[in-house]
Amino acid sequence: MSTPMTQDELKTLVGRAALDYVQPGSIVGVGTGSTVDKFIDALGAALQQNPAFIAGAVSSSVRSTERLEKLGVKVMPAESVTALGVYIDGADEINHQGAMIKGGGAALTREKIVADLADKFVCIADESKLVQTLGKFPLPVEVIPMAAAQVIRAFAKLGGVGKVREGCTTDNGNLIVDVTGLQITGADRFESDVNQIPGVVTVGVFARNKAAVCLLGTAQGVKTLTF
Ligand code: A5P
Repeated sequence: MSTPMTQDELKTLVGRAALDYVQPGSIVGVGTGSTVDKFIDALGAALQQNPAFIAGAVSSSVRSTERLEKLGVKVMPAESVTALGVYIDGADEINHQGAMIKGGGAALTREKIVADLADKFVCIADESKLVQTLGKFPLPVEVIPMAAAQVIRAFAKLGGVGKVREGCTTDNGNLIVDVTGLQITGADRFESDVNQIPGVVTVGVFARNKAAVCLLGTAQGVKTLTF
């Protein structure tokens, strides 16, 4: 009897599978997190075989930039690129329509910016991330520091309990408010509504920039969901 794969092994599996979505010689959008770290490892192996496998990357965080640069990948500023073929990133939750909660690693603003440059968002995740309804994972919201208390009060009106994430300053110098108690149906509308709250920089619901494909790591191997 074979032992079931660990969550780490499932992440490795989908990190490798994502290579199939990279157009050789292109500039690739790279997200943030432990699953993306596996994708970057796989990219490293591909680059050893073929140093021209990609022309460069646009990264969504200091963390991913450092890992990419260690491999010798040219990391380009988002503002120097007008379009990307693909953006590869993880998720904290993904629903059956491809909408996601992201920002567990506090990189949501840059993730949304880079995702928006890309034609296709390829989400890589282990099967624990697939949910019916978004909201069990506390929703990260990046906020301008002076607005944090006000944003928390606005979420209370929506039935959520917000809390400033301790010891966390984003790459953009802002705070993260994590909101529990939400059940997010109608993710598109929810994303737009929260974007209207003054002081909100980015809400961690990715509905407008939802996944086109999800490579889901399961006990049976990689399952490809398309939306
Ligand atoms: C980073 O801010 C997040 O959006 C990550 O993409 C998300 O938290 C998934 O991370 P893991 O791959 O580490 O679970």
